[in-house]
Amino acid sequence: MSIDWDESLNTGVEEMDADHRGLISLANSVQAAGQAGNQEDVLRLALEFSSYCDDHFVMEEEFMRDIGYPQRMSHKSDHDQMLADLDKIIGHVHSNIEASTVMADFIYRWTANHMQVFERQLAEFVCARGDGG
Ligand SMILES: [Fe+2]
Ligand SMILES: [Fe+2]
Repeated sequence: MSIDWDESLNTGVEEMDADHRGLISLANSVQAAGQAGNQEDVLRLALEFSSYCDDHFVMEEEFMRDIGYPQRMSHKSDHDQMLADLDKIIGHVHSNIEASTVMADFIYRWTANHMQVFERQLAEFVCARGDGG
């Protein structure tokens, strides 16, 4: 089971597309580590995922504002909610490493849904403008 990048996610904005490939790859690695029972790896990758998202979201939210993307507030709130939830889960995993499997699932599911729903809509909007990047 893995998330795949596909053309429907292509915005033509190089930094954005590269970040999305990176996010998907991290989410797949977290899930694989969780399934293999490598709890320390899950925690390490989850922290990496969280900081990757911090940087990516700043860029993406600025981009959405700059292009006047109508759904930017709901898109942003999917980012904010995930970071808040993940922060709580990471705190929990620090005191109970057994919870890392739940965390791996959370990251994987969020990424799959965020890509399929929010990023796909954003890519459609950018492509419809005809000047992606
Ligand atoms: Fe994104
Ligand atoms: Fe996003």
